[in-house]
Amino acid sequence: MKTALITGASRGLGRALARELARDGWTLIIDARDAVALRSAAADLGRGTVGIAGDVADAGHRAALAAAVADAGGLDLLVNNASTLGTTPMPRLAEQPVQDLAETFATNVLAPLALIQAVLPSLRERGGAILNITSDAAVEGYETWGGYGASKAALEQLSNVLAAEEPGLAVWWADPGEMRTDMLRAAGEDADAAPPPEEAAAALRRLVIDRPPSGRHRAADLAGAR
Ligand SMILES: NC(=O)c1ccc[n+]([C@@H]2O[C@H](COP(=O)([O-])OP(=O)(O)OC[C@H]3O[C@@H](n4cnc5c(N)ncnc54)[C@H](OP(=O)(O)O)[C@@H]3O)[C@@H](O)[C@H]2O)c1
Repeated sequence: MKTALITGASRGLGRALARELARDGWTLIIDARDAVALRSAAADLGRGTVGIAGDVADAGHRAALAAAVADAGGLDLLVNNASTLGTTPMPRLAEQPVQDLAETFATNVLAPLALIQAVLPSLRERGGAILNITSDAAVEGYETWGGYGASKAALEQLSNVLAAEEPGLAVWWADPGEMRTDMLRAAGEDADAAPPPEEAAAALRRLVIDRPPSGRHRAADLAGAR
């Protein structure tokens, strides 16, 4: 049986992707900060799902996730999905508090890299895969999206170099597109006009099923290719 660790899976894209993989028979390790919401998501995903509440930016929590991977006997897939928008309402860069940006990078860049480092031996053993969830804000010049976008651009470039350094693994970084989630709502966008995260999750599942070479993907393209 295959095992995946998905961060930020109590709601939104993480939860939808966890549902897809649970349906495919994967064993799941998931996290989120809100323990009550996480417990409910884990129960919904079925027996065998391990939910560990905590903040990905916390080293102790990441150690607990790595211990759960060891308990599960190994890892086939790491999905770095948990993320923060940073300062809200989202400011223009001229007004971006730099300390907030440091915290945004801690959650969106440093935590994913630290988690990758923690589980890399397990992934190498099984020729596994890493999926880092990024954004079109990583590559577009949207006003007020500079802090968040810079963190996602950094995650993309980490993924790009990791792919070159780890040819035995599949390393994908993917833009899920706009989704009707709490995050888009918190960004002040019309979230109700966006498609549900289940659509992006179904598209991203193609990566796991088809295992294309390492690289950048857009959920919209993967959905179109079906
Ligand atoms: N929504 C969009 O339109 C959109 C567009 C492009 C890219 N994305 C990306 O897609 C991914 C999923 O976003 P979403 O829209 O599904 O967000 P969401 O609905 O807000 O869900 C985020 C999930 O991550 C958890 N989380 C947040 N911060 C965490 C932390 N520090 N440690 C552990 N868990 C944490 C949340 O639970 P807790 O709050 O309880 O921790 C929740 O389970 C993110 O990487 C986001 O940047 C989203």
